[in-house]
Amino acid sequence: MLSQIIEAIKNAESNGLIAGTDTDVLTGLSGDKLVGSLQRLASLFSEDKNTCYLEVGVFQGLTLLSVANSCPNLTCYGIDNFAQFDPKGENFGIVKNRQEKLGLENANIINKDYEDALETLKTKSVIKKLEFILLMVPMIIAVN
Ligand SMILES: C[S@@+](CC[C@H](N)C(=O)[O-])C[C@H]1O[C@@H](n2cnc3c(N)ncnc32)[C@H](O)[C@@H]1O
Repeated sequence: MLSQIIEAIKNAESNGLIAGTDTDVLTGLSGDKLVGSLQRLASLFSEDKNTCYLEVGVFQGLTLLSVANSCPNLTCYGIDNFAQFDPKGENFGIVKNRQEKLGLENANIINKDYEDALETLKTKSVIKKLEFILLMVPMIIAVN
């Protein structure tokens, strides 16, 4: 698995986004190499029925929806309390609109502080065990 992870990151470094990512709809704070890395890393786990993609720090949905779009069989959760970078209070609506535009039924947006959201997901047994976690301040991305 480690060699596949390294290969996925090298591939993203050379090629950026996975082909088919809608760059008209999906814009945000992360660069193509980071988004491409998340897409490729998530795809390594996407055929495992017990796995989901979990992201803390959705902003306007770039990373969450890019992964959901490139891994249609993977259930994706994005947590954000929309307390930062959102002076007009419009980011939650932007994410929902983008999700609808792209027809992504595998993306779930949880509008809560991440501590409360993680507790809820744990209670509902969405999070069973943590297999892989990539931490980027101020984002935490976990593939469970
Ligand atoms: C850097 S942005 C995310 C960028 C996004 N992933 C992208 O690629 O465009 C960080 C986000 O984390 C959210 N955030 C910060 N603290 C949080 C917390 N305690 N709980 C939930 N979300 C939080 C902010 O509201 C903000 O939208």
